[in-house]
Amino acid sequence: MKDFWNQRYTSKEYAYGIEPNEFFRHQIDKLRPGKLLLPGEGEGRNAVYAAKKGWEVTAVDFSVKAKVKANRLAFRHQVEINYLVDSLQNAELPEENFDAVGFIYLHLNSEDLKKAMEKIQNSMKSGGVMIFECFSEKQFGRRTGGPKTLDRLYTVSQINNVLSEMDIDYLQEVEIPLDEGEFHQGRGMVIRAIVSKP
Ligand SMILES: C[S@@+](CC[C@H](N)C(=O)[O-])C[C@H]1O[C@@H](n2cnc3c(N)ncnc32)[C@H](O)[C@@H]1O
Repeated sequence: MKDFWNQRYTSKEYAYGIEPNEFFRHQIDKLRPGKLLLPGEGEGRNAVYAAKKGWEVTAVDFSVKAKVKANRLAFRHQVEINYLVDSLQNAELPEENFDAVGFIYLHLNSEDLKKAMEKIQNSMKSGGVMIFECFSEKQFGRRTGGPKTLDRLYTVSQINNVLSEMDIDYLQEVEIPLDEGEFHQGRGMVIRAIVSKP
């Protein structure tokens, strides 16, 4: 998978654009800036947006090409982000550290998702908020973005399960218009959630 992502990021263009994800932007704007974790952050669109708003951003992604482009975007906007090149499986995250997490279009198989979510939740402070948007199983077969295999697409009950230790403020499967770079274009079926750590 790492090779797939490094290949995708070889282009000069930003695969998902340079504007933040719309749901992420809307939700992060409601929170007071603190420490933010962005797992699977890719080329930095959400990281740079949040850093400009005063968040102290840590991004984790196993693509070194993504880091280079994220740093370029950060430089262009005169902000800094802490970008760790590592897999979610390997990454060591500090415990009880983050005020918010943006889990945006990171698609893992169910076993990796469960473990990654445990690690991420341990890294959140009590009261910390997670903003989640990923494709649902109903995106399968659509050509508007996302994994081409069912094992990396999510269901509402699966997300409900992996977030069962959290307080769920909002969890919904919705069809949305996507206009994010070359690879998220058209109508997509996504799961959105806002949860907080008790
Ligand atoms: C669809 S892109 C989304 C990027 C970013 N969140 C955004 O919305 O623009 C998925 C990203 O997750 C990263 N990724 C996938 N599996 C990963 C893993 N197991 N560990 C770390 N990063 C991973 C990929 O390198 C890629 O940058």
